[in-house]
Amino acid sequence: MFLSALGRWSIVVGILWLAVASAPARADDAGQEDLDEATRLKISAQNIDDLGKVIDRLDSAKDKGLDAENTKYANELLVSTLMQRAMTYASAIFNVQGQDPGEKKADTPYEPSANANFSWAVWGAGIYSPWEVVDYAALSIADAAPLLLVPGRRCENGRPVPSDRDDWKKFTQDLIDVGKAAYKASQSRSQEAVSDVSNQLADACLQCHERYRDKPGGSAADPSNKAARCL
Ligand code: HEC
Repeated sequence: MFLSALGRWSIVVGILWLAVASAPARADDAGQEDLDEATRLKISAQNIDDLGKVIDRLDSAKDKGLDAENTKYANELLVSTLMQRAMTYASAIFNVQGQDPGEKKADTPYEPSANANFSWAVWGAGIYSPWEVVDYAALSIADAAPLLLVPGRRCENGRPVPSDRDDWKKFTQDLIDVGKAAYKASQSRSQEAVSDVSNQLADACLQCHERYRDKPGGSAADPSNKAARCL
């Protein structure tokens, strides 16, 4: 088949371009495999351990190196995973309002029905004593909250988390303080003390959500709501 000079030239240029374009992409993207694995794990995540693995994989992917687009995606996945974990921890503390962890529960293994929300607190109670689950949840909130301040995090809409703003810092600090207070209350093994702190905890989440998450446009599924977040 006849190839014009121009045709041949464009093939050569194309091959050269590919070589130039793909070489740095490979070097920048050593973390790709970890990122793919994190995405898979996030989809199937059922409990705190799974969410912890997603976070570890994302950190590892970023350490190994990602290109700009993958870095942005990894940072978004990180924020949503951190929030999912915060919610799971918090629910262990909120549950104390209705259920005294000191009370003996049935020894049947936990088997959630297929369409019920997985209860980390109930699952954990089969392995740890119920008060230990509350201890752990409280400590984890205090430990994990500062991650909301790490620069480079992005909200789902791609906007950087406003971690340099004073009110964002304050909301995060409030969450850390309430986490510590919840741990102290849990150590006292008093259902009443933990119930009191759980109201403060709900407040700490709410304050930041009112300011940075719950935007006009209603539900989280509404794109106009999402676009206005983290501003
Ligand atoms: C410092 C601010 C801040 C604090 C404190 C905070 N959140 Fe969030 N949260 C956000 C923002 C901003 C989003 C939206 C993130 C996005 O769109 O990527 C969010 C999203 C979420 C989501 C995802 C659902 C949705 O609407 O997108 C959950 C679940 C959640 N938060 C739970 C909690 C819980 C539980 C607490 C308290 C233990 C908490 N958050 C504390 C700022 C905060």
